[in-house]
Amino acid sequence: MTEIVEKLYRTGNISDSELKSLIETDDKCVSNLIVKCADETRQKYYGKKVFLRGLIEISNYCRNDCLYCGIRRSNKNTERYRLNREEILSCCENGYELGFRTFVMQGGEDSYFTDNFMCFLISEIKKKYPDCAVTLSLGERSYESYRRMKEAGADRYLLRHETASKELYGKLHPEEMSFEKRRQCLFNLRELGYQVGSGFMVGVPFQTTENIIEDLRFLQEIRPHMIGIGPFVPHRETPFSDKKSGTLELTLRILGILRLMFPKALIPATTALGTISPDGRELGLKTGCNVVMPNLSPVSVRKKYNLYDNKICTGEESAECRVCLEKRIKSVGYEVSSERGDAL
Ligand code: 5AD
Ligand code: FES
Repeated sequence: MTEIVEKLYRTGNISDSELKSLIETDDKCVSNLIVKCADETRQKYYGKKVFLRGLIEISNYCRNDCLYCGIRRSNKNTERYRLNREEILSCCENGYELGFRTFVMQGGEDSYFTDNFMCFLISEIKKKYPDCAVTLSLGERSYESYRRMKEAGADRYLLRHETASKELYGKLHPEEMSFEKRRQCLFNLRELGYQVGSGFMVGVPFQTTENIIEDLRFLQEIRPHMIGIGPFVPHRETPFSDKKSGTLELTLRILGILRLMFPKALIPATTALGTISPDGRELGLKTGCNVVMPNLSPVSVRKKYNLYDNKICTGEESAECRVCLEKRIKSVGYEVSSERGDAL
């Protein structure tokens, strides 16, 4: 099976059946070889750099009802919050001083954040911090909305496709949500010139190896600048409360495969990965990841932005502890970059 890894390393592509054997392997040697090749590939293009993104969780109100997500609208047992303009700007100010050069504004689909509100906010941030990138992660919006926010200065947009299988999509989302609409949003974002991030969860209920292969093929089709994947982690107030988390081993293996298929992509070591294992993100960095997104949200709201249980968000992983963060990144042999960190 090591020949398959070598082929993937050399050519960046393998067949579905070869992918299946790598995804399903329980051979430690194969997994280790994936890690080694992924790290070489990452270093070839990005050296030892790790890019930081300051994550600002602007709202946990959400009109959607995804079955896996802790802030779905049916969850009546969560305290809702939204940040106002001043609070968001003060997160940016704090983040800028801490050295962040990308701000990611992420939130549930909250109609409070109208196009006018967002455009004003985005242009204000760009005016104050012209050397920073603004990334949005606000779910599905109209073409016109994406267009206006781009015009106001937004640089990037994160929208995970969640799954490339229509059948699985239907099992994870309420009927009113549309698989085609999600895909259309991604195509619209790309057409408008955003740097686009997409991705999916590993080990989400009902996911098969074939589904993961479909996800990888879909990513090959849309060629995103950023690919965010992390393990599914159950949330107690959702229909999937009794389901198992995705595993560290499988998530890492997929991260490695992604790096080999997408040598130039920006791939974050996600908070969910750090949640299922204390050294999850460090292991992610060693397996091809080159981005970390520490939390810049006000400490008072961090626990409320609970997509899943036991989210890490108050200790070393948060933005305040830049020194701890740098130490952790250095401890696995990488260095924090002070650049904006655009894709190559
Ligand atoms: N476990 C892991 N990731 C989750 N997300 C939502 N709910 C969960 C969960 N229970 C991910 C989705 C979404 C992103 C913001 O968080 O993939 O796109
Ligand atoms: Fe869809 Fe939260 S309700 S990701």
